[in-house]
Amino acid sequence: MNLNLLLLLLIFFLFGGECTPYAPASSSSSSSSSLIKKACTVGRGSVDLNLCVRTLESYREILPAKSLPDLAKRILTVGLSNSTATRSYIERAMTKNPPKPLMHVLKECKAAYDTLMPTYRIAISEITEDKDYETATYDLLIMASDYVGQCEKAVASNKVGDPVILSGNKAVELFGLSTYQIACDLQKQQGG
Ligand SMILES: *[C@@H]1O[C@H](CO)[C@@H](O)[C@H](O)[C@H]1NC(C)=O
Repeated sequence: MNLNLLLLLLIFFLFGGECTPYAPASSSSSSSSSLIKKACTVGRGSVDLNLCVRTLESYREILPAKSLPDLAKRILTVGLSNSTATRSYIERAMTKNPPKPLMHVLKECKAAYDTLMPTYRIAISEITEDKDYETATYDLLIMASDYVGQCEKAVASNKVGDPVILSGNKAVELFGLSTYQIACDLQKQQGG
């Protein structure tokens, strides 16, 4: 059993393995801002509600969302391009012959982004095509915790305060946990 799987099992053990309920799903409210607020009311992890709403609303690709699956797809699409940009930045920094400790951080972060980036596409198809919301919650939670955590740990232990990497990591958490919450809500609506 690998470490990621162990950590994931630990997370699910600690938190009970169920999407944290916060409010009954109401199908009448489907304006984009109420959908965004819903996605940002994350029952797990550390996402500030106001920051999350402000961030998601700052993307005009996200604003026209008409339903929860549509919103998830839009957030994950923005997330993928955001992480692609962060990863390119990391790659460019690696070519600039950085000092060894920084190079170590960059390598860890590149590996982290290589691991987490496929999750965006996988989760889009799980949510919009397969309607396998439960698997999506697992995938998104692990992306927003230990996949990006590999980079966060390296940054923290070497005290590298690179703003692009730091904001990129925070963004992975925000995009990952808000879509995790959407998948939770959809799972509840599906299964009752
Ligand atoms: C990723 O998104 C976050 C949140 O919107 C933003 O602060 C950050 O600058 C973005 N990173 C890149 C590389 O575009």
